[in-house]
Amino acid sequence: MIVLGIETTCDETGASLVRNGREILSNVIASSADIHEKYGGVFPELACRRHLESILPVIQEALVAPVDAIAIARGPGLVGALLVGMQVAKGLHIAWKKPLIGINHVEAHLYAALMGTEEWRFPALGVLLSGGHTFLTKISSVGSYELLGTTVDDAIGEAFDKVGTMLGLSYPGGPKVELLARGGDPKRFPFSPGRVKTHPQHFSFSGLKTAVLYAMQKEKMGEQEKRDLAASFQETAFTDVVHKAKKAIETFPCQAIYFGGGVTCNERLRLLFKKEFPDLPLFWPPKNLSLDNAAMIAGLGYHKLLIKQEGDPLSLEVQTRIPIDL
Ligand code: KG4
Ligand code: ZN
Repeated sequence: MIVLGIETTCDETGASLVRNGREILSNVIASSADIHEKYGGVFPELACRRHLESILPVIQEALVAPVDAIAIARGPGLVGALLVGMQVAKGLHIAWKKPLIGINHVEAHLYAALMGTEEWRFPALGVLLSGGHTFLTKISSVGSYELLGTTVDDAIGEAFDKVGTMLGLSYPGGPKVELLARGGDPKRFPFSPGRVKTHPQHFSFSGLKTAVLYAMQKEKMGEQEKRDLAASFQETAFTDVVHKAKKAIETFPCQAIYFGGGVTCNERLRLLFKKEFPDLPLFWPPKNLSLDNAAMIAGLGYHKLLIKQEGDPLSLEVQTRIPIDL
């Protein structure tokens, strides 16, 4: 079965053909990151307009074989951006008379790490770290999740982007903060990770972000201070993730960890997990599937169609927020 995946949740317009949930036949992405740079974050209205311009050429380029079904990222995301993809997907569903299936974008991020491996190991821990989401989940099978911890304020990628802006780096700041941190001393600024008293397994990054701002106001920031600040921020955020992941896997017989989301490209994060869990198989999404893409939507769409045995109705709606365990 060849599934066409369509992705328009945020600032990337993506279309991809995937055979039987694994074999990527095409994977086309048009990013609008260039127009958001000067705003230090995604400007929703501009992202929507760019989706409108890009969506048909991107799909056309991806159509390298006949399509059996259409998978659409129905959320979470920006409502206007989601609507562009959804309307096009419904149009193709009607015109081609092929099943339509709605996909949870964050679930697809975790699927990206499963996509490249032959044998799945469940129950597993899912670690999702992106620009819009941060959570730990128990994965019992594809489609069966139990939320173990999530952020109560900023997503971790968002915190990286905001710290990047404070340091004078362009959007998205995450990869640039990582580069800057390489030359820095992670112990120079003793930041504390966010604590959520009522839910100790949850994350909070807004306090850490403010601590970075105060540190910048207190000291004169030369090049080395900036490197130390980036390294200290990154180390505090990642040590917190590793610590909470460790607590999470104590609650069930975890067989592996599957990672998803743009922040999991970070080499320092990968090293910290390898050090902390030397005996556990760790599965990272391939580099081309770490950031937003439509291949992960098409791949997961195949499994959802097999599980549900039918497509979604034409009344399928976009959803700006969807918890992972629904
Ligand atoms: O998964 P993604 O493409 O989009 C969402 O669904 O949110 O993730 C984008 C996020 C941005 O916040 C970006 O700064 C961050 O991932 N990111 C990184 C790195 N590469 C991307 N953060 C830290 N280190 C990186 N190397
Ligand atoms: Zn994403």
